[in-house]
Amino acid sequence: MNESRFLAFAALLLALLIGACSSGGGDTPPLEGAKLGGPFTLTDQDGRQATDRQFEGKYRLVYFGFTYCPDVCPVDLQSIGQAMRQLEKSDAAKAARVQPIFISVDPERDKPAVLKQYVSAFHPRLIGLTGTPDQIADVAKKYGVFYSKEEKAGASDYMVNHSRIALLFGPKGEPIAILPHDKGADAIEAELKRWVK
Ligand code: NI
Repeated sequence: MNESRFLAFAALLLALLIGACSSGGGDTPPLEGAKLGGPFTLTDQDGRQATDRQFEGKYRLVYFGFTYCPDVCPVDLQSIGQAMRQLEKSDAAKAARVQPIFISVDPERDKPAVLKQYVSAFHPRLIGLTGTPDQIADVAKKYGVFYSKEEKAGASDYMVNHSRIALLFGPKGEPIAILPHDKGADAIEAELKRWVK
């Protein structure tokens, strides 16, 4: 799966978003003030309507991907799930304030039943969200995520290239930080401990 150019795209986009705000340390969230996130209306893994408002008061760990992703998404979600389990042991109160959310960029195939089985493999509280193609396009745009369907000639299957990024938002939906999804569970847990109050 060729995700490299989307990684580059995501990095560029984030560099633009972060701009001069990047402090490199201290207590200022790296994404403070970034125009990232916002309202959405989607459908959860149980087929119920889900909106950003139901996560009011919770930190949201948001990751976009698709269940048919052969390599990248499962690895990252594994790390995220593991980080959540570690945080539950090291600081249960903080862990309880974090809502991990997986948003599909493949709404055609990722119906609620498919998502339900998928998310349960990574963490019991991981919520899977899908929607209409328009709803997904809208939320991806707001959250700075790029994706595109890649059809191969002669194949009935297709891939979806997508930004590889895990974002942490605060209790009011404000962007806080990019989580190190590719550096393993310990690194993710450390960042959660740092930003979740
Ligand atoms: Ni993927």
